[in-house]
Amino acid sequence: MEVHLRPPALKNDTLLRALARQPTRYTPIWLMRQAGRYLPEYNAARAKAGSFLKLAKSPALATEIALQPLERYPLDAAILFSDILTVPDAMGLGLSFAEGEGPRFERPLRDEAAIARLAAPDPGRELRYVLDAVRETRRALDGRVPLIGFSGSPYTLACYMIEGSGSDDWRHVKEMRRARPDLLHCILAVNARAVADYLNAQIEAGAQVAMLFDTWGGSLGTADYEEFSLAYMRKVLAALLPVPSIVFTKGGGAWLESIATSGCSAVGLDSTVNPREARSRIGKKVALQGNLDPAVLAAPDASVREQARRVLDAFGPAPGHIFNLGHGISPDARPDAVAALVDEVRTYSTKLRTGLA
Ligand code: CP3
Repeated sequence: MEVHLRPPALKNDTLLRALARQPTRYTPIWLMRQAGRYLPEYNAARAKAGSFLKLAKSPALATEIALQPLERYPLDAAILFSDILTVPDAMGLGLSFAEGEGPRFERPLRDEAAIARLAAPDPGRELRYVLDAVRETRRALDGRVPLIGFSGSPYTLACYMIEGSGSDDWRHVKEMRRARPDLLHCILAVNARAVADYLNAQIEAGAQVAMLFDTWGGSLGTADYEEFSLAYMRKVLAALLPVPSIVFTKGGGAWLESIATSGCSAVGLDSTVNPREARSRIGKKVALQGNLDPAVLAAPDASVREQARRVLDAFGPAPGHIFNLGHGISPDARPDAVAALVDEVRTYSTKLRTGLA
């Protein structure tokens, strides 16, 4: 009798092949924030649970939500249902989400003593619920598609930890960078350790790809991006167990060449970047992910399909493109527009490869 000691082999490994820049029959697609408020079934589950954090902290509910978009659309990956701010929460900063207001920390990092006490959490203890969600989601996927694990970048986490909430200008972060860069480096060093441990724990629990969301790296100037954001992502990537990795710096278009040398397998592009130029600047050493403007998903199907073809044409048929949005899907995306997008990417990219387009 056969005993299954290992998880089943993947039925659809298109994403993993594209990340390795191997030929695929079509361009794989998944969407940042693919489980979320544009789906009525997500909103219903959240209303029933009472809050976003209750969903994220229950492995059973997180598994159910991660699979929701896959029940509707033939996507090529699932992403763990969680949030980047679980790490600072586990560090004791006290995360909450006020209705309609975004994240808030009860104890932001403003003084030297609190920064000196900051320590990387033990993921097996303080972030156990995330690892349980990874294991349960892998089991529920049953090898349909790979599971992407993720973390915020050390700098993006530091932004929320210092500011205490989202911000238009990150005033406190910039003030610390100017007056006490040593304190900021101290936070970033702890975060880099925490993020590497957290991603490795997700990988050990079953995540098959690791993604770094550097949402606020683009708010740094050219002189500061390497020192405060990219250098710490390099450290994280160097410490990772061997799975493919994706780095997405929103607003990072000016630094693509350096991002491509960070040790990642793929660079995420936001919608401001021209994919043809990105490919010629970066060369073939990494895969590229992106970059349809999420606003297109509020438009009629015909224009969704047209814009999808434009993005595919701009990346071209060469191996190493993962279709995605230029940033997270917005709550006003039409679920039917997502169906049209996924269908168009599959059919048109298949035609591009066979020369029939
Ligand atoms: O992609 C996925 O489907 C996986 C889940 C995921 C969430 N957040 C769930 C979520 C991922 C990968 C994230 C990443 C994340 N979280 C980022 C980086 C990517 C980005 O969007 O720029 C950031 C900056 C955060 C922090 C965060 N979480 C904010 C600013 C907010 C509130 C504003 C918003 O966009 O909703 C959240 C809440 C959040 N995280 C929701 C979801 C589904 C919405 C919660 C709700 O139901 O109200």
